[in-house]
Amino acid sequence: MASKMTTVCEYKPGLEGIPAAQSSISYVDGQRGILEYRGIGIEELAQKSTFLETAYLLIWGELPTNEELEAFKKEILYHRRIKYRIKDMMKCFPETGHPMDALQASAAALGLFYSKRALDDPDYIRRAVVRILAKIPTMVAAFKQMRKGNEPVQPCDHLDYAANFLYMLNEQEPDPIAARLFDVCLMLHAEHTINASTFSAMVTASTLTDPYAVVASAVGTLAGPLHGGANEEVLSMLEEIGSVDNVYPYVEECLQHKRKIMGFGHRVYKVKDPRAKILQSLAEQLFEQPGCDKYYDIAVEFEKAVEEKLGYKGIYANVDFYSGLVYCKLGIPRDLFTPVFAIARVAGWLAHWKEQLEENRIYRPTQIYTGSHGVSYKTMAERDSYPC
Ligand code: ACO
Repeated sequence: MASKMTTVCEYKPGLEGIPAAQSSISYVDGQRGILEYRGIGIEELAQKSTFLETAYLLIWGELPTNEELEAFKKEILYHRRIKYRIKDMMKCFPETGHPMDALQASAAALGLFYSKRALDDPDYIRRAVVRILAKIPTMVAAFKQMRKGNEPVQPCDHLDYAANFLYMLNEQEPDPIAARLFDVCLMLHAEHTINASTFSAMVTASTLTDPYAVVASAVGTLAGPLHGGANEEVLSMLEEIGSVDNVYPYVEECLQHKRKIMGFGHRVYKVKDPRAKILQSLAEQLFEQPGCDKYYDIAVEFEKAVEEKLGYKGIYANVDFYSGLVYCKLGIPRDLFTPVFAIARVAGWLAHWKEQLEENRIYRPTQIYTGSHGVSYKTMAERDSYPC
């Protein structure tokens, strides 16, 4: 009995290694560098699938038939626009605010406009999934335009999901190769088991609140620099390094001062993140020749240096290391990198929301109390008489 109590109460900071759910959505093997969505390897999906098909797979558990996919795409297309009152609300956001904060507020606001909640109705679930997948990219692109004082660019009906987002962002149709690369980036970021933002989504979902609150809480969690915010910091770091010659001295300095190196390390992967491998090959395609982009060359040298110094600890490049470089080349502003991550990860959050509802129990973990007991209340006069 005593040993059982010890097991139950063992404290693991960050819940490392503690199973908090059963899920059939995705699988990660951190020792062998494997990531699968519904059993399909991420490399195969990146080669053969599209983001919307992958989102369907994650959320409904099976790849769609042609008819199912076409119907899904049509519904998404229909729901891409956002209400003028949402736009009006977004116009009041300070233009200096971070786009992740704007996205969190806008995602939560959807709950005001679509307030009917019917969590046991499959039609409601489908409509909510479609609405969120369709509107999140529009809201991210709209804030980018509005903070410059421009009207948002309306979605373009003949462009698919990824191409339409780049179009709304840059006011010009992307070339098909750029659009395909971006679609692959979305697939790579769509799901990753029970990480911090997904756990946040699941905890919120477990209270049976609406899906907009679920997504808004996950967006807030993704925003932190230890999670989705790392890719922004990677580019700042590459700029700070400034030249290939400065790579090794910079790494040495980080190690000496025990500074975390952004874009490296992962709670689960102890080898190179399989998504980083795919992103690196996308970056290679974009930057073809060495010397074509200074920061790509610095990144390649930097990865080599960090692997040499920290590889023995199982610290390798993660998904965020190359994604910023790819996004930059696609014309995505730096502070939109994490919102773009959110556009993709919404698919995973919604898959977990749906799975959570199928067998729900509210999350209510325990804690190990480290405070005092029976402390007597001190009056203000007693507190004021404390020596300074
Ligand atoms: N740079 C330098 N050292 C590192 C790094 C890093 N990026 N990551 C881990 N370490 C070291 C730690 O200093 C620690 O060393 P020690 O045992 O000698 O004290 C050891 O590795 C374990 O580190 P933790 O922080 O305890 O590992 P944890 O699993 O908690 O953290 C995390 C994982 C948060 C991703 C961490 O590696 C990190 O901060 N990386 C940088 C931020 C980043 O790139 N985040 C994006 C992750 S991917 C994503 O969220 C999509």
